[in-house]
Amino acid sequence: MSNPLDQKIYIAGHRGMVGSAIERTLRKQGYTNIVGKTHAQLDLTNQVAVADFFAQEKPDQVYLAAARVGGIYANNTYPAEFIYDNLMVQNNVIHQAFVHGVKKLLFLGSSCIYPKHAPQPMTEDALLMGKLEPTNEPYAIAKIAGIKMCESYNRQYSQSHGVDYRSVMPTNLYGPGDNYHPENSHVIPALIRRFHEAKISNAPEVVIWGTGTPKREFLYVDDMAAASVFVMQLDKASFDQQTEPMQNHINVGYGSDVTIADLAHAVGSVVGYQGKISFDTSKPDGTPRKWMDSGKLNQLGWKPLVDLQGGLAQAYADFLQQIA
Ligand SMILES: NC(=O)c1ccc[n+]([C@@H]2O[C@H](COP(=O)([O-])OP(=O)(O)OC[C@H]3O[C@@H](n4cnc5c(N)ncnc54)[C@H](OP(=O)(O)O)[C@@H]3O)[C@@H](O)[C@H]2O)c1
Repeated sequence: MSNPLDQKIYIAGHRGMVGSAIERTLRKQGYTNIVGKTHAQLDLTNQVAVADFFAQEKPDQVYLAAARVGGIYANNTYPAEFIYDNLMVQNNVIHQAFVHGVKKLLFLGSSCIYPKHAPQPMTEDALLMGKLEPTNEPYAIAKIAGIKMCESYNRQYSQSHGVDYRSVMPTNLYGPGDNYHPENSHVIPALIRRFHEAKISNAPEVVIWGTGTPKREFLYVDDMAAASVFVMQLDKASFDQQTEPMQNHINVGYGSDVTIADLAHAVGSVVGYQGKISFDTSKPDGTPRKWMDSGKLNQLGWKPLVDLQGGLAQAYADFLQQIA
């Protein structure tokens, strides 16, 4: 039997935060035959270019971690680009993977696929049970289409072609490779930057928008990568036991959430900020709680390894390296 470590693995988005963590994880496992192309080398929205790439490389497995990703501002400002780019990238990669004989593919979605008012913690079966959060609806619709595309290819081609395409839905991620842009970043990198700048300038106070009481869940990106590889490598019988043909996505969360106030204090302490942290309660809070039920993944045998304090320390070290 051939050595599984010789399998050729294509990571779409291998320079991104999650894609690069998946590559680290696979290399640690001993995989060496890993291919990746930068956005400049291969625009995944280009159908012909993607077809040519697959014809040339003929990978055995695909991790689809390329996507147009952004915070509320970007999602709200560029809704057309968010829906077009994400649909094109995933349609091209999933379809060309199939056309070129790829049997194993993992699609990365997001917790924003779930309805705005989904019961907490959000279970996999909350999908399509209500209206989405309007600010990122185009992005979420693309991600839902990606899940349904994987399911549809399995339903039509698993018997005839051995296709086994799976999807994972991560909670909020953070860690090395994150985007620390002052306006267009997620909450943890934004807080890291703010506390760092406040420390450097000896600012007496950092003011956080809202009451600090909303709760959010955060997962360290290397844990996400480990979960992705775990789900990809899981034997089909175990995977099928936890999923349905028309509901085969799996949540990946940390398992518990924290208040924004606790998060702010944790970031402040990791950064070494000595000043005061206060809350501007005149500013809006957003959804009170967003928390995923990761019971299926836990039952399959996966648990995260990195706690918030440890993960934030790694993230801050990465930030310092990025700004050096
Ligand atoms: N970060 C989170 O908190 C989070 C949470 C839930 C789910 N996810 C999901 O996880 C996946 C990876 O996210 P991430 O945080 O790693 O994002 P990221 O750091 O922005 O990485 C995405 C990668 O995809 C590439 N890409 C985008 N459009 C492309 C195109 N048309 N052709 C070729 N490459 C393209 C980007 O290249 P350029 O930068 O050069 O465009 C980038 O390297 C996404 O599916 C995302 O939805 C992320």
